[in-house]
Amino acid sequence: MSNEQWSHGFYKLTPAQRRQILGEQYHLNIADQELLEKNSSALGNDLVENYITDYSLPEGVVTGLLVNGKTYTLPMVVEEPSVIAAANNGAQRVARSGGFIADHQPRALVGQVVLDQIKDPQRTIEWLKDHQNDLLKIANDAHPSMQKRGGGAKQLRIRQVGRFISVDLLIDVCQAMGANTVNTMAEAVAHYLSENGNNVVTAILSNYATESLQTVSCQVNFAQLATKQMSGEVVAQRIADLSELAQVDPYRAATHNKGIMNGIDAALIASGNDWRAIESGANAYASRDGQYRGLSTWQIVDDHLEGQLTLPMPVGVVGGSIGLKKLTKLNYQLSSIKTAQELAAVITSLGLAQNLAAIRALATTGIQAGHMKLQYRSLAISVGAQQNEIDQLVKKLGQQQHVDQNVAKEILATMRKESTNE
Ligand code: HMG
Repeated sequence: MSNEQWSHGFYKLTPAQRRQILGEQYHLNIADQELLEKNSSALGNDLVENYITDYSLPEGVVTGLLVNGKTYTLPMVVEEPSVIAAANNGAQRVARSGGFIADHQPRALVGQVVLDQIKDPQRTIEWLKDHQNDLLKIANDAHPSMQKRGGGAKQLRIRQVGRFISVDLLIDVCQAMGANTVNTMAEAVAHYLSENGNNVVTAILSNYATESLQTVSCQVNFAQLATKQMSGEVVAQRIADLSELAQVDPYRAATHNKGIMNGIDAALIASGNDWRAIESGANAYASRDGQYRGLSTWQIVDDHLEGQLTLPMPVGVVGGSIGLKKLTKLNYQLSSIKTAQELAAVITSLGLAQNLAAIRALATTGIQAGHMKLQYRSLAISVGAQQNEIDQLVKKLGQQQHVDQNVAKEILATMRKESTNE
């Protein structure tokens, strides 16, 4: 069957029928087909389209994350070795220095209704200003329950962007992620604007959530940064230098921010939030003055290192897929986080802890020393080590000067030869 033939209407089939067709088309053996089936779930089929199976990722926790005087255990879901170790490492160093301070700002999401083909921009802007209250009422009437909870569309912002005018609705979505609420409100406003002779290009949430900025900061004692070879002050100075580099060089800034998002994305996934939304907002914010820069900054102040991180963090604790997955609910029990504000503060603190551990490693031993040791288990698995061989192979890899796939393969082969000779 050609791809055209079997893929047409594929979404109308059951997961079992889809697996069977894929099995035939891609010559999957029985074990592969069983793997797909074994990991499938009814919930997965209800969540995504063309569903065939669940793809699972490891979950771990960062413990002892001290934010605003409260100690959190925060679940993290990530496939990369050393991320969770680094999170714990950074969290511990900051906790021993007094913890993170996170501000609590009122937060809102932005719904954009964009107009085009505007004959007289000034007149249109005046008209929009005159109809501000009507537009807010239309937005709120489209989703009345949000206003009943104390939230809803609160403010209108009008921006002229090139030949377009963006009517931004600032919407308080209370404890929710709120994307659907915002889109419903924006579309209702778009409908009204179209009916009143405007040409609407689009009506949609903006992921550049500048009205949901979260700032966290911390002070780290020099003693918490020292290594056996380097004083804490020298390490602090190197961290401050790396921070400055990330402000001036986008090549370094992208990696610096990846180190922050290692923790943030992992916690977002574990909390059932939309990590793509936070990623895109974070990267837009990193470029807010026209150059892409590091999201966090570190500097020496008196006798300690001070770190600060600000980024849009429009997370929710209800809505989306949060209430659907049992494991997500359980994760909230582990973290004891009850509100969206608290979640934003704790996840952003984790991002700064993650960043501290990564750049401290860069400033001291280099990343490979700690990171690669923790990679050895994945390396062992990737060269075919069985469960009963992994520990021994990891130990032997740790004794090598140079480690790569070939070295791992050779050691595994030798181990197997030795065990058959015994
Ligand atoms: P270390 O200092 O050798 O660890 O760090 P330690 O054995 O001295 O232990 C100190 C603490 O670290 C422990 O305290 C734990 O909190 C934590 P304890 O529990 O003993 O009281 N810790 C661990 N937690 C869980 N599991 C572990 C573990 N080991 C230590 N196995 C470490 C070793 C790897 C943590 C450190 O070298 C590190 O943080 N490295 C950075 C690793 C990293 O960032 N990995 C992400 C991949 S690299 C990347 O994607 C981003 C990057 O490019 C970003 C950038 O360039 O900015 C680096």
